[in-house]
Amino acid sequence: MQGDVAARLEPMRRRHVRACAEIEQVLFAGDSPWPAAAFHSELDLGGHYLVAVDGSVAGGDEHVLGYAGLAVMGKRGDYETSVHTIGVRPEHQGTGLGKALLRAVLAKADELAAPVLLEVRTDNDSAIGLYEKHGFRRLGLRKGYYQPSGADAYTMRREAITGERQEDGR
Ligand SMILES: CC(C)(COP(=O)(O)OP(=O)(O)OC[C@H]1O[C@@H](n2cnc3c(N)ncnc32)[C@H](O)[C@@H]1OP(=O)(O)O)[C@@H](O)C(=O)NCCC(=O)NCCS
Repeated sequence: MQGDVAARLEPMRRRHVRACAEIEQVLFAGDSPWPAAAFHSELDLGGHYLVAVDGSVAGGDEHVLGYAGLAVMGKRGDYETSVHTIGVRPEHQGTGLGKALLRAVLAKADELAAPVLLEVRTDNDSAIGLYEKHGFRRLGLRKGYYQPSGADAYTMRREAITGERQEDGR
C-alpha cells in the first residue's frame, strides 16, 4: 500500500467504531453521517467492514485512518453487494488508502461472484474517478438522495466477476 504512513488493513472491530463515526462527521457533514450505532448494526448484520490503521502504532481507535464497508445481500449463488460507506481522513486522502480499501472490499464481492452497487454524490469527482477506474458504471440519478443537503447521487454498478470458484465467504 502506498501512503505517508505504514498503513495496514484489518477487519473493523467494535473498538474502531468510535473513530470511524468521528471521521464520518468530518467527511459527510450535511449528508447524514453515520453515527456509531450505524456501524454497530452493520457489524451485527455481518457486513464486510475494514479499517486502514496506522501500522506503526499498536491498537487504539485514534489510529484509524480510513474505513470501507460492503454489505452482502441475497443467498449463495445469487449474492448482491453494496459499498455502504468508504472514507479516508482528509489529511491522508490522495495517498492510496481509498484505493486499497476499495480493492479489498471488491475482492470480497469477487469471491462471492457478486455485482456491486453504490451511491455517490454527483459532485464527488474523486470518488467517481476511483469507482470508474475499478469497473463501476453509472446506472442512474437519484435526485435529492443525500439529506439534509439535498445533493443528488449517481447509482453506480460493477458487474459480477464470475470465476471458477463461487463460495460462501460470509
Ligand atoms: C473517495 C476517497 C475514499 C478516496 O480515497 P483516497 O485515499 O483519497 O484515494 P486514493 O489516494 O486511493 O486515490 C485513488 C484514486 O482516486 C481517484 N481520484 C483521486 N482524486 C481524483 C480527482 N480529483 N478526479 C478524478 N479521480 C480522482 C483516482 O482514480 C485515484 O487513482 P490513481 O491514483 O490511480 O489515479 C476519499 O477521498 C474520501 O474519503 N473522500 C471523502 C469521503 C467520500 O467522498 N467517500 C465516498 C462516498 S461515495
